[in-house]
Amino acid sequence: MARIIPIEGDRRAAVNAAINVLSKARPVAIPTETVYGLAADATDPAAIASIYETKGRPRFNPLICHMADLEMAERYAIFDPISRRLAEHFWPGPLTLVLPLRPDSAIHPLATAGLDTVGIRVPKGFAGELIRAFGRPLAAPSANASGKISPTTAHHVEADLGTRIDLVIDGGPCPVGVESTIVKVEDDRIRLLRPGGVPAEAIEGATGLPVERPKAAGTAAIEAPGMLASHYAPNTHVRLDATSVIPGEALIRFGSQPVDGMAQAAAVFDLSASENLAEAAANLFGLLKEADQTGAAGIAVTPIPDHGLGEAINDRLKRAAAPGTYRGSW
Ligand code: TXA
Ligand code: MG
Repeated sequence: MARIIPIEGDRRAAVNAAINVLSKARPVAIPTETVYGLAADATDPAAIASIYETKGRPRFNPLICHMADLEMAERYAIFDPISRRLAEHFWPGPLTLVLPLRPDSAIHPLATAGLDTVGIRVPKGFAGELIRAFGRPLAAPSANASGKISPTTAHHVEADLGTRIDLVIDGGPCPVGVESTIVKVEDDRIRLLRPGGVPAEAIEGATGLPVERPKAAGTAAIEAPGMLASHYAPNTHVRLDATSVIPGEALIRFGSQPVDGMAQAAAVFDLSASENLAEAAANLFGLLKEADQTGAAGIAVTPIPDHGLGEAINDRLKRAAAPGTYRGSW
């Protein structure tokens, strides 16, 4: 089983333990402000290959490369003025920029799935400290088996990947709770590839430019290859926009309004009693897992507003509810 080392107490020891694993070209699970990541040296093909193996992730799906700061990112990717403004405004934080690779970039093509672009973000807190100490970028997808719900606690990581990895660094629950927002700037236009922890409205506010959503459903799946509709799959069927509970279902509620039939629910979970979208995002994946574990006949989720962080929450919920979702243990 994986060792679990808490950051609290001795940050230096946690950084050193992580570097020790990274130096052996092995992946280490680390906390970020969004979700836990499965991190490995983005310049080392053996290290990157072990991420894909550990997750059972298809190799056509590129990884986000995490940097210590903008200066480090500029050694690997070419920044247009709008992307630089976004980096200066939102980094460190939950925003990933898809940028052209520099011709001399040391990022290994296995991390980018051979694309001529790279997804880069600068994470907050421990992950940033670790990258600075390690001195090289870390490729890190979410630390879950491919197709499963992303982990927001060290315990989630352990339950999902514990037998496959050496070390989990425990930084407590992730404060944002949904993955980073991914954007790509092209011809002075900002295109949203994945809604996430930075609301699109905040990007519009910082740049004065509109954020363009994918024109047709599924377009983002091609642009950000990981955006398969069948991502984030619980084992139990998920029913969205529920206004009543079918007896035997577990209920996940936004707000504190009573829901028809909730007395017959197998269990009731509150994303945010006060209708706070940031709190709901932070609770989302953990409560989906808990609801799944009740063994209920289904999971009913009440409607969630589609603005701000609600856009990312609804995106993840739609994937959890998508028909044909992956149901195996991988
Ligand atoms: O918050 C996050 O972004 C977390 C933490 C660990 O940083 N990471 C994460 O990674 O969500 P992952 O691998 O689960 O999702 C990465 C997404 C995928 O949809 C992938 O296709 C997209 O980023 N991506 C990566 N590089 C890309 C590129 N060059 N062009 C387009 N999409 C890219
Ligand atoms: Mg993921």
